[in-house]
Amino acid sequence: MEDNNNIESIVNDAIERVKNADSIEKINEIRNKFLSKKGIISSLMLKMKELAVEEKKRYGQIVNSAKKTVEDALNNKLEEVKSLEIKKQLEKESIDITLPGKNYESGKENPFYKVLREIEDIFISMGYEVHDGPEIVTDEYNFELVNIPKDHPARDMQDSFYINDNLLLRTQTSSMQPEIMRLAKGKPIKVICPGKCYRRDDDDMTHSHQFAQVEGLVIDKNINMASLKGTLELFAKQMFSKDSKVRFRSSYFPFTEPSVEVDISCFKCHGKGCPTCKGSGWIEILGAGMVHPNVLKMSGYDPEVYSGFAFGVGIDRVAMLRYGIDDIRRIYSNDVRFIKQFNKKIED
Ligand code: DAH
Repeated sequence: MEDNNNIESIVNDAIERVKNADSIEKINEIRNKFLSKKGIISSLMLKMKELAVEEKKRYGQIVNSAKKTVEDALNNKLEEVKSLEIKKQLEKESIDITLPGKNYESGKENPFYKVLREIEDIFISMGYEVHDGPEIVTDEYNFELVNIPKDHPARDMQDSFYINDNLLLRTQTSSMQPEIMRLAKGKPIKVICPGKCYRRDDDDMTHSHQFAQVEGLVIDKNINMASLKGTLELFAKQMFSKDSKVRFRSSYFPFTEPSVEVDISCFKCHGKGCPTCKGSGWIEILGAGMVHPNVLKMSGYDPEVYSGFAFGVGIDRVAMLRYGIDDIRRIYSNDVRFIKQFNKKIED
């Protein structure tokens, strides 16, 4: 009886401790204290050997049930504490979705590309196709087929990056003219070809060894200088100012005959004279002319039947004029502080 009371109080003590345990460590401590080999409940078994045979069974059952009671209490508590700890951990890791997020800035469009897109839009609205072309070209396409044979002095003005005797980085998008004619196989042509060009140069505010042009090429029957002038005037009015005028000055390019240098009336001062037009009222923007009969012939067009005009405009130059950019290198240096100034949002 006394044993019973003793065991009961041990169990009560253990249960009480289990109740108050609030961590896995504490539960383990209690398990150790009561249930380990030398723990309080296990030690009760030692008493067995002092008992009479008939008592042993009863006593063993009492101790075992005490052990089970404590064990069950400990296991239940362990589950409880574990799930509580998981809950706490989850609470700690929970995300507060009401917090304002980090502001990631979206990219901005380089003014160069804004201008390129505008140029493309203008010509597309006039029914032109836009063609890309390779930046590595043969000497034949860059020079020979546009009427600049090996010994031609015009080559001196285009200091080139040669890859080998026959391959070079194109110095002008005029290299696209023979390519387009080859693809068109004698049919009428109305295309623009934008793209990068390269010439060896000492880079400064107005020169860059890398720059970009848009080549225009129109070939059909009855194309003349008036078609060219009308086209360029329409372009200037949309690109620069509604009242833009176009002026032709005679010039020389090996692939056109006649050739012209094209000026537009200054879109800042409308011809009065200002720093943008260096006081002249006119700004030079591109070179153009009627496609040379040799160029037509070399690419399979009969100059007696077909005629055409071509022009080449520097995209960098237009962007610089349009946005008042003082140094061509800024277009290529990828400084976000520079690019940011031209558009608040890329969708603008
Ligand atoms: N390819 C010339 C250059 O880089 C620009 C040019 C002038 C292109 C007159 C043309 C043209 O198509 O007709 O200087």
